[in-house]
This record gives sequence, structure tokens and C-alpha cells, in this order.
Amino acid sequence: MSKQTLLTYYQTNQFNPVPIEIGDDRTWRNHFTRRRNLYENHLGIPLALLRDKSVLEFGCNSGENALVLAAMGANLTLVEPNEQVWPRLHQLFDTFKLKDRIINLFPQDINTFESDNIFDLVLAEGFIHTLENRDQALSRLLSYLAPGGIGIISFDDRFGSLLECIRQLLLFRVLELQGISDPHCDKSRQYAEQLFGQDYARLHTSRPFESWWKDNLVNPFFSAEVLWSYREILEVITQSGGEFLSSSPKWFTGDHYTWYKQVCDPVKRHHVLLQNWEKVFTYMLTGLLPEKEPTPLSPEILACITHFIEQISQYVHTRQVGVEELVYPEPLEVYLEQSSDLQIQYLNLEMKTLIGNIIRTTLKDELINAYHETSILKLLWGCPYHYISFTKSS
Ligand SMILES: C[S@@+](CC[C@H](N)C(=O)[O-])C[C@H]1O[C@@H](n2cnc3c(N)ncnc32)[C@H](O)[C@@H]1O
Repeated sequence: MSKQTLLTYYQTNQFNPVPIEIGDDRTWRNHFTRRRNLYENHLGIPLALLRDKSVLEFGCNSGENALVLAAMGANLTLVEPNEQVWPRLHQLFDTFKLKDRIINLFPQDINTFESDNIFDLVLAEGFIHTLENRDQALSRLLSYLAPGGIGIISFDDRFGSLLECIRQLLLFRVLELQGISDPHCDKSRQYAEQLFGQDYARLHTSRPFESWWKDNLVNPFFSAEVLWSYREILEVITQSGGEFLSSSPKWFTGDHYTWYKQVCDPVKRHHVLLQNWEKVFTYMLTGLLPEKEPTPLSPEILACITHFIEQISQYVHTRQVGVEELVYPEPLEVYLEQSSDLQIQYLNLEMKTLIGNIIRTTLKDELINAYHETSILKLLWGCPYHYISFTKSS
């Protein structure tokens, strides 16, 4: 039997992971405005400059994002191995009268696609981090960039996903207590709604709850192995002759307040970026604004969070770890305790109580109520999903 991948997960379950609603003028304008904000204000790519430029998008799904680029006059080469979403893609480009902007649509994946062409913009959103050979896939992506071209990837960040992993743990503990072995069943979705439905609704995201449940909470590909980090990604980008341009969320301030004549080489700039990342680390973990005087971060703290997330994943996906073996990591506790932000101190206490104690209850309602009674944890989502744009040297 061949190994399951994110792609086969979508195909077997026959679901569109990002069903973006753009059926009428209002929803289309909404979508367009958000994507423009992402490209222009976060990732540093003015859309008007894409007119007649060549774009290669891997994993375009049913093409809602590609449509924005087509509407700005870009010429698209699309690579989407899940042919189940092709009919909607064709129908959308037909409806928007933008079919002639698709130069090619290929059924290959990022590893098997071959082309002699190079492109001005190359994108791979929402899947590259899940691939076993993701470093190689990212290098391949960079190899398709024209000199001076721009690449975009998105990924689930290891540290930004801590709170999402804790949510996953809560749901799977409820399922365990209820004797439910299939996380994809209807009951599982109902428990997920009971636990997180209200908090999710407060996010006002266009993504339906059901898609989040399927694509994050119970997706076997939302696990420790697929989580990535800026440090690992920058290493590949540097090795492949690329340089960080920007990100979303946009947190790097290392270039701010510097004179443009003060040029930094890419390696040094990446180093400054990672130092900056350490300073905004509690923002990554919690989504709360960075502290003015952050507590220094140590490799020990990063290692203990990584290990904790691995333990959660093993509990959730393989049951190789039992709930009694889960321990709230002490170095993390000590680190967050020193925060000058009272919300972070409170969050720390709530996570400690939940993981150190309540998660072991045998009463599902006690667990659900304990989560509902948290005052900070239930309001925070961390920073799980990041975009990075990068350039290739000319
Ligand atoms: C989570 S969806 C994201 C869709 C879209 N890019 C977005 O960000 O809204 C991931 C997409 O990547 C595709 N995909 C999965 N594995 C792939 C691979 N190895 N190469 C290319 N595309 C892949 C899936 O079929 C799916 O359409």
C-alpha cells in the first residue's frame, strides 16, 4: 500500500480544503482585497507589476488565489495533482472570463513537474511543509525562479502551532473518553464544535469550521513532523541562492530605521532576522503583541516545546504516548512565568493546570468545562500559519 500523503488525504476524503467563496461580487471583492493585502502589504509584491509576468503555482487547488493573479494580468502555469478540484477551477476561470490567462494546467506534483521555463513568481501555499523531502522541494521551487524573481511559500510553524496542538489534544482526549476511534466521524466534529465552536466563530474567518476541523484538528498531516520553522526554511533559501523578502504575519523589524545605503548581505540579514525572531517569540507562541523587554530565549526552551509537541502528536495520531505521560514542560513554564505580560503569565497557569492535571480526568464534561472556563487560553490561537516571500539573486 502506498504511503498516505496530504494529497491522498484530500483525495480519499473528497474534500476541498480551502473552499473560498467567491460566487458573487461582494465575496469576490472581499477575497481580492484580502489577497492584495497579503501580497502587497505583507509580502512586498505590488500586484500591478504582475501584468504579463509569468507565474508558476504549485498546489493551486481550485484556483481561487490564482484567479486574483490572473485578474491582474499574470500568465499562469498551474500544477495541481488533485484532479478532483479541476472542474471547479475551470468553471471559475470561465465565469470570470480569465481562461486565456491559464497557459498550462498540469496534473504533476512539485516533485515530478518538469519544465525548461523559469518564472517571475513561483508559489506553493499550504502543502510544501507536509512533504517528506520538503527541503528538496523548496530548492526545486527556487530553481524555477528567474533571476530577480520572487517565491512564496506558506507553512505551519512549529512554535506558532503550540496552542493549535493543545486544542488537538483536548479533542482527542474527549474522543478517547467517549471511546471514539474514528476522528473523522460526525460525533468528532460535534465534540470539536462543542469545545471550540464559539471561540472559532469569534475569529470571523471565511474558512468554515468544518474545513478547519478536517484540515487541522483531525488531519493526520497536522502533526509534529510537518511543522517547520523559520530557521530551517532560511537555511534552504540561503543554500539555494535566495534571500528573505518579507512574511505574513509581518514581524521582522530588523530593516526598520536603517539607512538604505547600509546594505547587509543575505547571510547576515538572515542572522539578524533569527535574532529578531527570538525577541518576538512570545508573539509567535500566543499571537499577543511582542513584549518590550522579552525574556531571553534558550535552545532548551525551543527543544522542550518541540518535544512536548511531538508527545502530543504521538498521543493524538499513534497513541504511542498515553495521556498520563504528557507533562507541561518546566523550561517553558519558567520562561513564560518571567513575562511582563500578565496575559502570558495567566496563559501559562491555564496551560499548566490543563496539561498537568485536568487532561487526566475521566469525565469528558469536566474537561470541556475546564477549557471553557479558561479566560485567556480559549481566546488565543498562536501564530500557526505563516507565509514567506523571498527573492532569487539576479
Ligand atoms: C491546503 S491546500 C492549499 C490550496 C491553495 N494553495 C491555498 O493556499 O489556498 C494544498 C494544495 O496542495 C496540493 N498538493 C498537495 N501535495 C502536493 C504536491 N506534492 N505537489 C503539488 N501540489 C500538492 C493539494 O492538492 C491542494 O490543492
